[in-house]
Amino acid sequence: MSDLPEVLILNGPNLNMLGVREPAIYGHETLADIESMCHDRAADLGLSVDFRQSNFEGELVSMIQQARDRAAGIIINPAGYTHTSVAIHDALKLSDLPVIELHLSNPHQRESFRHISYVTAVAKGSIAGFGSHGYVLGLDAMGRLLERDS
Ligand code: DQA
Repeated sequence: MSDLPEVLILNGPNLNMLGVREPAIYGHETLADIESMCHDRAADLGLSVDFRQSNFEGELVSMIQQARDRAAGIIINPAGYTHTSVAIHDALKLSDLPVIELHLSNPHQRESFRHISYVTAVAKGSIAGFGSHGYVLGLDAMGRLLERDS
């Protein structure tokens, strides 16, 4: 384990299908490509990354609970659960960690059911609409937040 502050980057359902999933909306990069980008950026920022994905709401809740004692912050793309999950909202609130909400697309330009987020209220801020580069922006923002808090 490294001594660097750890950022949990959590990805929700269907994000394991990036690359083949609606590339016109989500781009051609795979989640593995994005993970590798995140490790590179984190190294530049003096952070370490725990990069995870799950298709299961309860598993995402457990990962957030485990981060409470381990991580310095959470970047989360809750995917479809953004718009439905009180359980993820509650877990993020309970974590007491700085949270950044992240989306590849801009949900506000899409169907109306994507305009509601249960995560925004428990996040320091949100990044949406910049594709995979949003993950780099998220790490930059988290780096700043953690510097300010230390
Ligand atoms: C998403 C947007 C959500 O509305 C959608 O359900 C996703 C991905 C995004 O990254 O743009 O699965 O979170």
